[in-house]
Amino acid sequence: MTIHHLAENNSVLNTFIAELRDVTTQKDRLRFRRNIERIGEVLGYELSKTLKFSEKEVNTPLGTSKINLPEENVVICSILRAGIPLHNGLLNYFDKAENSFISAYRHHPNNDEEFEILVEYIASPSLEGKTLILADPMMATGRSFVNVLKALERLGKPEKIHLVSVIGAQEGIDYVSEHFPENSTLWIATVDKQLDERGYIVPGLGDAGDLAYGSK
Ligand code: URA
Repeated sequence: MTIHHLAENNSVLNTFIAELRDVTTQKDRLRFRRNIERIGEVLGYELSKTLKFSEKEVNTPLGTSKINLPEENVVICSILRAGIPLHNGLLNYFDKAENSFISAYRHHPNNDEEFEILVEYIASPSLEGKTLILADPMMATGRSFVNVLKALERLGKPEKIHLVSVIGAQEGIDYVSEHFPENSTLWIATVDKQLDERGYIVPGLGDAGDLAYGSK
């Protein structure tokens, strides 16, 4: 898997990430969602540079202009519910993308810290031969991405997979790298060192779904 770690250089991306992490600014749910959306836009823009383009001609009022336009059939798939603001950011930049939604949540069978990831809901077009963009803002253990990939198998084989995330833990990135096809690409804003005993990213930002939409 190729990994693009986008916040390693100074850029406005760091402002968005700082506001997401900061307990004082993250209380503003609208701003929290908008910052994730803005990160989706930046990552989507970077990702777009790797797509196949072909030359098209457009008529202007004064003549014609040749321009390269993307030609891949993109499907954006977000993992509910925290993936929705990231999905919106990506969709702002991929106007013609098809859309796919899949649920994945942590189930604690023994009411302790151990959990499994359950995937229950899928609404998706066929993925056969398409460019799949999988969006989840928090890449903690990596198991949501991997279970979702398994659940999507019945919808056909995408030609290329891009994973888009905001904050990852190295452990999750290693797990995903082991299980995704080699030609997949990860676009991630920033990577933190560790997970706590509950599988939350430290320092991370807390629960992205709760911060975006309120606690369950
Ligand atoms: N999901 C979150 O929202 N936060 C984490 O730290 C890990 C998973």
